[in-house]
Amino acid sequence: MQKLAIQGGRPLRGEVRISGAKNAALPIMCASLLTADTLHLTNLPDLHDVGTMRKLLQQMGVTVETAAGEITFKGDKIDKWEAPYDMVKTMRAAILVLGPLVARFGDAKVSLPGGCAIGSRPVDLHIKGLQAMGAEIAIEHGYIHAKAKRLKGARIFFDIVSVTGTENLMMAAVLADGVTVLENAAREPEVIDLANCLRSMGAKISGDGTDNITIIGVESLRGATHHIMPDRIESGTFLVAAAATGGSITLRETRADILETVLEKLTEAGAKIVVDGDTIHLEMNGRPKSVNVRTAPHPAFPTDMQAQFMALNCIADGSAMVVETIFENRFMHVQELRRLGAQIDVEGNTSVVRGVAKLEGATVMATDLRASACLVIAGLVAEGETVIDRIYHLDRGYEHIESKLGQLGASIRRVK
Ligand code: EPZ
Repeated sequence: MQKLAIQGGRPLRGEVRISGAKNAALPIMCASLLTADTLHLTNLPDLHDVGTMRKLLQQMGVTVETAAGEITFKGDKIDKWEAPYDMVKTMRAAILVLGPLVARFGDAKVSLPGGCAIGSRPVDLHIKGLQAMGAEIAIEHGYIHAKAKRLKGARIFFDIVSVTGTENLMMAAVLADGVTVLENAAREPEVIDLANCLRSMGAKISGDGTDNITIIGVESLRGATHHIMPDRIESGTFLVAAAATGGSITLRETRADILETVLEKLTEAGAKIVVDGDTIHLEMNGRPKSVNVRTAPHPAFPTDMQAQFMALNCIADGSAMVVETIFENRFMHVQELRRLGAQIDVEGNTSVVRGVAKLEGATVMATDLRASACLVIAGLVAEGETVIDRIYHLDRGYEHIESKLGQLGASIRRVK
């Protein structure tokens, strides 16, 4: 089991390049199932989940050629319309092969994702949407079996906003017979990036980025080349780390328009932020001020940044409320932060964080991807050494995080 050892107390300074977005790359890789042509993706992040998705597509028969940050897919020899449990259990996003498989081949067998640390995360909305489009669905032995001669356009209302639910059904609809309207759809920037890629393949999609998306089915899709958008959560994580350590950093190859609520909260905490094209510069002089945070679907404050802001509030001046409205169990970082000396009370989906002057290094355990990022930030500010165990969670979503933080002056090393 690998660990990260961090010597805290050093402000982050310097420049870092932001990688392609994990949560855009994963659905867009599944779009390779929708065409027999070549889909060429660039700016792919070097992440464990991207590797898992590549292997899943390969074992279905997609031919794959990889280069640094690039993958070329060709879906002309797909002969297995299945996502087995052993792959889905390590990466829930594998559910995103369901829509494309039913759309192109009329048949799919995808393992139900198991539970997850941050919540039960059902996929009932994905299934309901496919049924509305005419798919016959059976759930047997932990697998979703979906069959359809040809999916039909339908009007689908999401009673809960679901990011991958929206993405799965958008991909199902692009080859359906007729028009599909997704109502109460997710508005996340990664949904727009998927729609941009699908449009470049010949799909007819409008309204992405709003809560009402219309897809007019076409007979087939062609290949394309697509550059994955920057990762807004990696961007936000580095900015929070710089704010927490009283540093001064510049992010390159990112975008500010996809991070508005995060930038607003950092400004409220006292950071000075300058945006210039695809760079964001943040300067934090002195101790951050506490900021209240309430997560909700985009464009509101992202749940994937909740744990990072909790770490910032732990050492901020004042008290703050952190409310998690998306997942039912996304406070597992609280126990670990308490081990570093944080003062946090939790009541249901609300945490109250009372800022303390300093945290003290300790051994802590990562429980999920963003909780790991929170503990890295806490370790960067804690006095002495913090050792974070189970950092395989971190490697799923952050490309080469210790070398990027090392470039910014952090004292951080991976230990066996
Ligand atoms: C996506 O997960 C992201 N993952 C998550 O990022 C992110 O936290 C989440 O959206 C919310 O923004 C990817 O894009 C690969 P949801 P997703 O469906 O799509 C409930 C990270 O750290 N729901 O938007 O699985 C669900 O339980 C990960 O990178 C249903 O009830 O999340 C949750 O409470 C973590 N039924 C809420 O909706 C369904 O069929 C939002 O979930 C689907 C979802």
